[in-house]
Amino acid sequence: MPLIPGPLYRGLLRPILFSLDAETAHHLTLAILSMMPPLPVAPDPLELRIALWGMEFSNPIGLAAGMDKDAIAVGAWQSLGFGFAELGTITPRPQPGNPKPRVFRLPDHLALINRLGFPSEGMEVVAPRIEKIRRGGTRIRIALNFGPNKDTPVEQVAADYAALMTRLAPSADFVVINVSSPNTPGLRNWQSPERVREIFAAMEQAPAGARRPPILLKVAPDLDDANLDAICDAALTLHLDGMVVCNTTLKREEVGVGSAEAGGLSGHPLCDLARDRIASVYRRTRDKLPIIGVGGIMNADDALGHIKAGASLIELYTGLIYEGPGLIAAMKKSLANLLRRDGFRSISEAVGSNVKV
Ligand SMILES: Cc1cc2nc3c(=O)[nH]c(=O)nc-3n(C[C@H](O)[C@H](O)[C@H](O)COP(=O)(O)O)c2cc1C
Repeated sequence: MPLIPGPLYRGLLRPILFSLDAETAHHLTLAILSMMPPLPVAPDPLELRIALWGMEFSNPIGLAAGMDKDAIAVGAWQSLGFGFAELGTITPRPQPGNPKPRVFRLPDHLALINRLGFPSEGMEVVAPRIEKIRRGGTRIRIALNFGPNKDTPVEQVAADYAALMTRLAPSADFVVINVSSPNTPGLRNWQSPERVREIFAAMEQAPAGARRPPILLKVAPDLDDANLDAICDAALTLHLDGMVVCNTTLKREEVGVGSAEAGGLSGHPLCDLARDRIASVYRRTRDKLPIIGVGGIMNADDALGHIKAGASLIELYTGLIYEGPGLIAAMKKSLANLLRRDGFRSISEAVGSNVKV
């Protein structure tokens, strides 16, 4: 039984939340979720289980970065039925982010535009929170998403990622290098092979305790084919552990949205673009680099589409805003049915099945 069934959310709760400013509604929801006691979760259908990087995921559906930037509601993500949660973006030092308003709903498009600019309580506040969660034991996997501070000079950016690695690696099942947010000036320039090498080298050399977690790279959907191929080749050469494809887009008309509001666009209009980028990365890195597919997933069909394009895990954020917390339980049930319908015995069998060599 989903926690809050979709019709109840869409008919009652969503209109109340949508009557508030988007960021106010976000903080109110997070505050409520952070107080939620852990709830028993029904076991996941066996065909949704997947193993990656030597770890089991009981299902492939994850919370995308940005929803729980400061790791305040991890118990709730577990209770809602996620297989993993990507927390962050976390920056080394606290910072407020951009001036408000900075999150906008586009209900006709089932989309959001945000220009938050990494508001973060900083790693020294977030780290003990995650350590405490770890000590309590979690059923879901925890990924931590890292970004540099806005005022960090260019020559110190790699050192920011190294500092985050040292402080937070012991608490993470895997970590994500975020160089693809459109809202931190200059950050997307770090999506070049040379600069990724610089960040990765700094993280590799950083002391990180006994266990070095897998390191993934999150890319923007707006890279052209040549640049995306170059990043994929660098990721393979450097032996990165995977790619998160993709962050929000700066495109508007190309994805059928007319808004002039500045920032990154997420949600339904991003779905096809994200899927195209996932397939491009899969073609280039086939079997060597697991992909987390994210962008525009609103239901199980969208999730399976990203999986068939090459994603081993998928994540969502905007879908949760429009469909509510019951979405995850409903998606898991439908995804298992869709796999059976298409003759797949597991997620792994479906990964990349729509991508021609
Ligand atoms: C309000 C908001 C804040 C976000 N913040 C972050 C962030 O801090 N770090 C990050 O890597 N991605 C961030 N994202 C991007 C999401 O993780 C995801 O890549 C993107 O929204 C596409 O997925 P979706 O269509 O399911 O929302 C944010 C997205 C939204 C809507």
